[in-house]
Amino acid sequence: MGKLQFYVTLLTLSLLSSINSTRSATFTLTNQCNYPVWAGLLSGAGTPPLPTTGFPLQPTQSNPITIPQNWSGRIWGRTLCSTDFTGRFTCVTGDCGSGTVECNGAGATPPATLAEFTLNGANGMDFYDVSLVDGYNLPIMVVPEGDRSGGNCNVTGCLVDLNQNCPSELRLTDVGAGDESVACRSACEAFGDPMYCCSGTYSTPQTCNPTSYSEYFKTACPTAYSYAYDDGTSTFTCFAGNYVITFCPTPANSRKTTGAGQSAESSGSGSLAKTFRVSTVIVIGFIFKWAWRL
Ligand SMILES: *[C@@H]1O[C@H](CO)[C@@H](O)[C@H](O)[C@H]1NC(C)=O
Ligand SMILES: *[C@@H]1O[C@H](CO)[C@@H](O)[C@H](O)[C@H]1NC(C)=O
Repeated sequence: MGKLQFYVTLLTLSLLSSINSTRSATFTLTNQCNYPVWAGLLSGAGTPPLPTTGFPLQPTQSNPITIPQNWSGRIWGRTLCSTDFTGRFTCVTGDCGSGTVECNGAGATPPATLAEFTLNGANGMDFYDVSLVDGYNLPIMVVPEGDRSGGNCNVTGCLVDLNQNCPSELRLTDVGAGDESVACRSACEAFGDPMYCCSGTYSTPQTCNPTSYSEYFKTACPTAYSYAYDDGTSTFTCFAGNYVITFCPTPANSRKTTGAGQSAESSGSGSLAKTFRVSTVIVIGFIFKWAWRL
């Protein structure tokens, strides 16, 4: 009897663990830029580590990654990377300071466009967004795959090139790139003013408002975070999905289709149900943002 119980327990445990392992997600990182991009990945505090924290992607190359259950963290692209004569690896944008291709627990140096995820969060939903709060370096699109019925399971991202028209005071230029703008800083990073950083007396959603700088980002990328409290139109939710994260999604089709969805959303009906749904997302978004700051 004791032996049978032991085997039954063992079987149950292995069944459970196989169920658990099938619940991990796949993130497929794809580079559609016409230049190489080095992906950077950072796990949030206390979440399971990833099989990789950084790797190169040549133009048109894709790399699927198995993401552990309940993972949260950020993914971004590094550009203009090279290895110097001492063997130290650095990038002009999105550098993580590790000196190697793997970021090993270090995050992106701003400015960098970030794709942020919390898998299996509140109500078992995945939360995700694309953020320009730390500035912008390249276009990113996040496409949820599989059952898209639950939550606000939309394509999001910042699909346009914001470097060309970046306000001069926010520009990050690179001598090696012919003094071209290679990234666009956030006003917070450029000026350090609490008004732009949502800090000090501006540290609540009521006191921190959009500025002409955040509006530059928001107009170009309506579904991306343009400042810290931009939650209502920038946080998305899905049930247990896989995600495709594309650097430089092709402008011609993606810009058009998502642009249409986005304008429909901002002029949408003000029904009570919708207001309730949006405010729930805002509240959850705050919790999500707050948890990130810890
Ligand atoms: C993931 O989160 C769920 C719900 O919070 C929990 O029941 C489960 O044990 C977690 N799984 C892992 C692998 O941490
Ligand atoms: C997601 O897309 C749907 C359908 O296009 C739209 O009604 C909804 O407002 C969008 N949600 C967000 C947060 O953009």
